Amino acid sequence: MKLRVNGLEYEVHPPPERLLVDLLREDLHLTGTKRGCEDGSCGACTVLVDREPRHACLTLAHMVEGRDVTTIEGASSSFGLSSLQRALIENGGLQCGFCAPGMVLAVEACLLRGKPTREEIREAIAGNYCRCTGYAKIVDAAEKVVRERWGP
Ligand code: FES
Ligand code: FES
Repeated sequence: MKLRVNGLEYEVHPPPERLLVDLLREDLHLTGTKRGCEDGSCGACTVLVDREPRHACLTLAHMVEGRDVTTIEGASSSFGLSSLQRALIENGGLQCGFCAPGMVLAVEACLLRGKPTREEIREAIAGNYCRCTGYAKIVDAAEKVVRERWGP
């Protein structure tokens, strides 16, 4: 099967039961996508499939045949960190690398849909667990990006 990951074309031959998270981490060596609960509860494995968030732990590799997949490795711009990643750092929005990839991609998907409200940002990360930072700073960082892109 063929798919695109972070803008690159791949041809892979996964067995029918191969999960997308394993295809990404083990076959394509994109280890930014994390394995957490493995049952769809924590959001650590979140990737974008055709710009929409998807749990890679619940997605069979074959389900993304011909699709566009974005992992955290593809979330940066060609100039370095994305505006969201910079805002998260400046706001102290994330502390660990485990929840961060899924959190960043969940917010990016929300930003891709248009100018989100604070409530819509909160809903976008409702399925992403962070056990240490708290969510306010993450939402603050996302709102900073909203102001930068769309104005106050
Ligand atoms: S590892 Fe997929 S949702 Fe937790
Ligand atoms: S910053 Fe990763 S779990 Fe809280």
